[in-house]
This record gives sequence, C-alpha cells and structure tokens, in this order.
Amino acid sequence: MKNLKIISHPVVEHNLSIMRDKNTGQVDFKNSLDRISYILAAETYASSGLESKTVNTPFKKIEGSKIKDRIIILPILRAGLGLTRGFIDLYPEAVTSHIGIYRDEESLKPVKYYFRFPKLKDKANVHVIIIDPMIATGGSVNFTIEYLLNMGIKKISVASLLCAPEGINAINNRFNRSEKKSIEIITCSLDEKLNEKGYIVPGLGDAGDRMFGT
Ligand code: PRP
Ligand code: URA
Repeated sequence: MKNLKIISHPVVEHNLSIMRDKNTGQVDFKNSLDRISYILAAETYASSGLESKTVNTPFKKIEGSKIKDRIIILPILRAGLGLTRGFIDLYPEAVTSHIGIYRDEESLKPVKYYFRFPKLKDKANVHVIIIDPMIATGGSVNFTIEYLLNMGIKKISVASLLCAPEGINAINNRFNRSEKKSIEIITCSLDEKLNEKGYIVPGLGDAGDRMFGT
C-alpha cells in the first residue's frame, strides 16, 4: 500500500512492546507513548514541504530551509491527546485543533461531540495531521477526513500507533481510490485483525482507558 508508511525503529519497537504488555501500568504506558510520539512526529513532518530561507550564521550568509506547510495537528479526543507531545515539541509553531469522537459500543460507529478549528481564510499550504493512536474499523478517522474535506482542506495525513487491516482498507476504499488524491497514513504497526468487539489484535487493549486510568 503506497500511502501506508510503517515505521521501523528500535525506540518504537522497544516502547511499543512495553505498551502492549497487559501488566504495564498507566505511568509506563504514558511515558512509552510520549517517546514514540517524537519518532512518529518526525516521520509525519517528513512529508511536509520545505522552502528556502536565508540564514546569517556567525560567519556567512547561507540558504537554509523552513517548513512551508501551515501545520494543524488534530488529535481525536480522547486517546489522540496522548500522542501529541512529540508533534508539539518538534514543531511548536503548529496550531493544535481538537475533534472529540467516541465509538458507540454497540454499533462501533463514530459519534462526534466536539470540534474546534481555526477559521481559515486562505487554505493554501494547510496540512492537517490527524492524530489517533488506534485505527480499528477506521470509522473515527474516516469521519474526521470527511469533515476536513468538506471544509476544503486538501492536504491531510493520519498519524497512528497501531492499525488493523480492516481500518486501513476502510480508509483506502473511501478516500484513496485515485493515485492523485492520496491520504498518507503513518503508523508504528499494522496488526493482524479486529476481534468480534472491534478491538485490534494483538493490539494493546483500550488506549484511552490505559493512558487515562479509567
Ligand atoms: C478509540 C480510539 C479511536 C477509535 C478507533 O476511541 O482512540 O479514536 O477508538 O476505533 P475506530 O477505528 O473503530 O473508529 P474510543 O471510542 O475508545 O474513545 P476514547 O478515545 O475517548 O477512549
Ligand atoms: N480503540 C482502542 O482503544 N483499542 C482498540 O483496540 C480499538 C479501538
């Protein structure tokens, strides 16, 4: 899958194994997620455009670079909040917006309860990065992508910790049919499958509950 980037990095693999362990407590779970968020952010920012910028070093003038995209990071509440740290630290100029969505426990369909986004007169160079640790059925991410496309946002990436093939297929079937309009998905692992309750297997359980101690 051309639009799916799976990160392979020892820091990710080490910390993801801590998070997957059912005996890992809230503090270690959250600390590992924070560490992984830096690697995930660096990989996601790699697809942002650069423009040149003149820099005066103490010795001479050179052509340097700066990130061209106007980045808006959009965590899906709640669990997306736990993955924002690396994104904010690596690029503090980014705007942080929020969308609140939970999955209905019976239907597994997304239910939106909050949305806060800047009013944009000019959408040129806007790059929205949706952040959610888990892509299970893909319903929450698909809902968010649809919402952004309806607002006229053209460049959208998705950064996640774990995904199920079912969720990736759902996103690709809905949005990535044409070569031209592709939404990039960056993840740390493509797991095996969903279970009958819509949880990712092997997965790590309920990400929101484990990071917030609920
Ligand atoms: C979890 C997770 C994703 C969603 C993924 O949220 O954080 O947002 O499920 O599932 P999907 O791909 O099938 O939509 P949850 O509904 O548990 O809410 P929470 O983040 O508030 O815990
Ligand atoms: N949401 C989670 O937190 N975990 C899963 O495995 C699936 C959805």
